[in-house]
Amino acid sequence: MEFIEVTNPVRENIALVAFNRPKELNALSPQLMSELRDALLTLDQDDSVRVIVLTGNEKVFAAGADIKQMADKSAIDMLLQDQFATWDQIKKTKKPIIAAVSGFALGGGCELAMTCDMIIASETAVFGQPEIKIGVLPGAGGTQRLTRALGKAKAMEMVLTGKFISAEEAEKHGLINKVVPVELYLEEAYKLAAEIAQQSPVAVRLAKEAVLRSFESSLEEGLYFERKNFYLAFASDDQKEGMEAFIQKRKPDFKGK
Ligand code: CAA
Repeated sequence: MEFIEVTNPVRENIALVAFNRPKELNALSPQLMSELRDALLTLDQDDSVRVIVLTGNEKVFAAGADIKQMADKSAIDMLLQDQFATWDQIKKTKKPIIAAVSGFALGGGCELAMTCDMIIASETAVFGQPEIKIGVLPGAGGTQRLTRALGKAKAMEMVLTGKFISAEEAEKHGLINKVVPVELYLEEAYKLAAEIAQQSPVAVRLAKEAVLRSFESSLEEGLYFERKNFYLAFASDDQKEGMEAFIQKRKPDFKGK
């Protein structure tokens, strides 16, 4: 892979995926996104991996889709290339993905961070959808995910002006999980990942699915989906182990079965 670096494991049961296109500020070219999709698919199928951390570097998470590669495209070129189809695959990753963001998370970079399940940011992180300044609009979920996270007024302001928000502001509005000093953002992401990696992988998968379903369905349908997944968890050895360990006052040893 040219633009993606995978470290597996980076910690026990945790894999790190890092963008490696620093000269272009990790601009999300179709090649980079295909590599990301392939890396995530491989990690999703690897039983030793329980949580994935996705990062850029200290200066930039990602500065958006590659403007230079899109600049002279026609609508039909864009339609036929359908670059966001890759994103649909990434969205289907079953294991939890934590974005560890430092510096710019702009345009597609912000959208990709929001596609992840949780976001840990450094104090230097900034989030924004500046597409309006180059004559377009977010195309990889920004208008939808930002609005769900921040509410209409704030999202509308960001999308229509291209203004960035700081990590502190993003945390205040619930867009991200936590802000930490820049030297700690990766460690903090690993810490969160390690807490999740200790849980039953089966239950984590079912729980992730159920939380994500809340974005796609009515409350009634979401509750129904949650209940089915709750009952399904009782088919796992991990449920027996978890409940027995609780009763026996010991730590559970989850196997992911
Ligand atoms: N695509 C292609 N190249 C990019 C890029 C992008 N999104 N962002 C930065 N680069 C390139 C720059 O062109 C520059 O290349 P050269 O050295 O060859 O000139 C290099 O990366 C460094 O960038 P800057 O000199 O601009 O760095 P800076 O520190 O002065 O500014 C920045 C940083 C504020 C992030 C600025 O680069 C910027 O505004 N980038 C574009 C952000 C943007 O508009 N993103 C949205 C893209 S469209 C999109 O994402 C659609 C979607 O919904 C998926």
